[in-house]
Amino acid sequence: HQNNFQHILPGQHVYDGVLFFGYSPPETLDLVKTFHVRADDVFLVTYPKAGTTWLQEIVWLLMHEGDFEGALATPVYIRSPFLEFKDLTLNEIGLDLASTMPSPRVIKTHLPLKLAPREILVKKPKVIILFRNPKDVCVSYFNFYKCSSSFGNFQGDWPEFLAMFCEGHVDHGSWFDFTKSWWPLRELTNVKLVFYEDLKRNPFGIIKELADFLGKQHLDDVTISRIAAHCSFEKMRENPMTNHQDVYSINSQVSPLMRKGQVGDWKSVFTVQQNEDFTQIYLDKLSHLEIPFTYQL
Ligand code: A3P
Repeated sequence: HQNNFQHILPGQHVYDGVLFFGYSPPETLDLVKTFHVRADDVFLVTYPKAGTTWLQEIVWLLMHEGDFEGALATPVYIRSPFLEFKDLTLNEIGLDLASTMPSPRVIKTHLPLKLAPREILVKKPKVIILFRNPKDVCVSYFNFYKCSSSFGNFQGDWPEFLAMFCEGHVDHGSWFDFTKSWWPLRELTNVKLVFYEDLKRNPFGIIKELADFLGKQHLDDVTISRIAAHCSFEKMRENPMTNHQDVYSINSQVSPLMRKGQVGDWKSVFTVQQNEDFTQIYLDKLSHLEIPFTYQL
């Protein structure tokens, strides 16, 4: 698994050792590093397919006192900008959207720590890191690659994608590097680490924890329950403000963003051998961190 980036295709580039597609061009990645962070920002830090959109909707609602009307009026990707994203057709940059947005901002990034805005470590905004077990991430990412023109409507098969994922030859680079880079920050008081599987198992409890972390203890249990219900997989899949069906670069006929929303779907895709190989790669790279991932509920 040497890092020779054998899968670089037209429209991709490598920035500081991390593979990106055209929608995160080098000049945008340069600007992200010096992005002006505000102390009252909330950063959502996730590797692609970890459940980012789910967390965005929850956190936006918490930060806006359960404003469901507002949430149903504007797509989540506008309310919560994707920092390093530049829409190549509309020429919209997440950075521009974020810069002019009133506080409190809920900002999404998939960058590894070394490429994130430097002021995150200085201004100490709230940071929520969302982790999901890498096998489900990989399967979800494979389906996303196939349906998204941003990734060239990937025509390869599952074994090919699995190899690319293990080598970090996918957009935003290695899941292993991303995970390693943010894991130590969980100890900081302005940082909260959440697992997708815990959110799935106990949405009310985790959303309540997030409310406490965000200084929103005054939100009552009825509001928390309503947020949990509004953000269920079924509701978000039907909701045009969260399901991304209007995003031109995603062909929902091939695979919708809201695909299955389950824990353990990887079992229907990995062969026994692939699972053994993947587990070994995981152990070699990350077992020393002892991250408590859950692979089934
Ligand atoms: P699957 O492909 O496994 O279904 P991201 O938002 O980071 O791109 O992640 C997308 C993944 O999160 C998809 O996983 C999607 O179904 C899942 N997801 C989105 N909203 C969800 C929700 N409300 N509950 C559970 N999973 C959700």
